[in-house]
Amino acid sequence: MNARDSEAVAAMLRHRGYSMVDSEYEADIVLLNTCAVRDQAEQKAIGKTGHLIKHKRNRPNFIIGIMGCMAQNRGRGILDQLPDLDLLVGTQKFHRIPDHLDSLIHSANGLGPQPGTIVDLEDEEGSQNTICDHDPDQRQVSAFVSIMQGCNMSCTFCIVPKTRGRERCRPIAEIVEEIESLASQGTREVTLLGQIVTSYGRRELPFKNGKSPFVQLLEKIQELPEIKCIRFTSPHPRGFKKDLIEAYRGLSKLCEYVHLPMQSGSNRILRAMNRPYTAKRYKQIVSELRTVVPSMYISTDIIVGFPGETEDDFQETRALFMDIAFDMAYIFKYSIRTETPAAILPHQVPQEVKEARNQILLDILTQNSMSRNQTLLGSTQEVLVEGPARKGEGMYSGRTRGNRKVNFSGTPRLIGKLVPVEIEKVSSSSLYGSLVLHGMETDKPLTTKKL
Ligand code: 5AD
Repeated sequence: MNARDSEAVAAMLRHRGYSMVDSEYEADIVLLNTCAVRDQAEQKAIGKTGHLIKHKRNRPNFIIGIMGCMAQNRGRGILDQLPDLDLLVGTQKFHRIPDHLDSLIHSANGLGPQPGTIVDLEDEEGSQNTICDHDPDQRQVSAFVSIMQGCNMSCTFCIVPKTRGRERCRPIAEIVEEIESLASQGTREVTLLGQIVTSYGRRELPFKNGKSPFVQLLEKIQELPEIKCIRFTSPHPRGFKKDLIEAYRGLSKLCEYVHLPMQSGSNRILRAMNRPYTAKRYKQIVSELRTVVPSMYISTDIIVGFPGETEDDFQETRALFMDIAFDMAYIFKYSIRTETPAAILPHQVPQEVKEARNQILLDILTQNSMSRNQTLLGSTQEVLVEGPARKGEGMYSGRTRGNRKVNFSGTPRLIGKLVPVEIEKVSSSSLYGSLVLHGMETDKPLTTKKL
């Protein structure tokens, strides 16, 4: 979400005549887009800003701004720590950044009054529709598309409802138009973004033939001929109803990868988190998904050390985590977020217990991920080629429909194409293989020639 917001702001700024430089040390302006989900992210942003602000001593016209969730969360309070900040922009004001920078530059050139720090943190109706710019010079085989902003849930650990506001969705037609425009410039895969995409349009748009607005949106994207792969993040288990499960049967472009935040495997903790499902229901959704698509890749978010999490609670999480055998997971140590209900709960879990639980789940994950990848050895996977690999001359990389990264030897003309790759080597996080020239036989060793 943050990467997409940053990208949209960068595109707006390029449009206004600004250009990007490779390094923060060459920049006249640095904007830090920030996260507030955990304290560590906020501390990192504050540290980084403090470091960059030192540039102002030698370059008085250097502009530094903080945007996004931490700006929204901490508000003007940030200025107590960082009084030299030029710009503080909240999550509903990204589109105002070009104007704010123009006025800062204007005043720095002596052409306007000294504005001090510009602070813009108010809610703005319709702001969800402003995250739609992409840079036409940056060819993106795989693009993020923001379909909604905000969250109406009230998970007791989470700061996001405060930082992102209430749920607001973009109209289907505008989203489709954005994707068509991306497709005309070479995009072949889209990842639809929202805090809880399964809530998309729930209040504004009607169900049609028993299908939620989100599934209707997926169906519209399925019809776009140049788009080959559709992904989304994140759904809420509560929103994973039959229509969405069935979409995996009906929509060929919907990739068999679901990121489904579980948070905990203990019903007691789920209740304390105000997550409206049980471990049993979570398991049932996964099993329904695997019934429709047996090879479904499933990833999740887990929080260890939520206040009051006992060893027994953790063992329940561990058991469910092993049982589901996640292909990927983001495991977080609970972090106190001021003004959230969980922050003041008794029985906060000691840091070393959180560390230990985190490590136990990470070890299980590495094993699961490795054994899943090993099952792919010798198979041929459909890979959307995204660009040159980070390492290796002539090496290219892309992802399978299950969202596994694959590196292989290729040529630039393959970028943006779906190609068959035979998997020859695996690690727990990546796959390595060779392009198959003819035919495509999934999940079977191939006899065809290799490049
Ligand atoms: N502490 C730790 N992890 C958190 N998350 C959200 N809030 C907190 C918190 N206070 C995690 C959840 C969520 C992911 C985006 O971040 O697992 O799904």
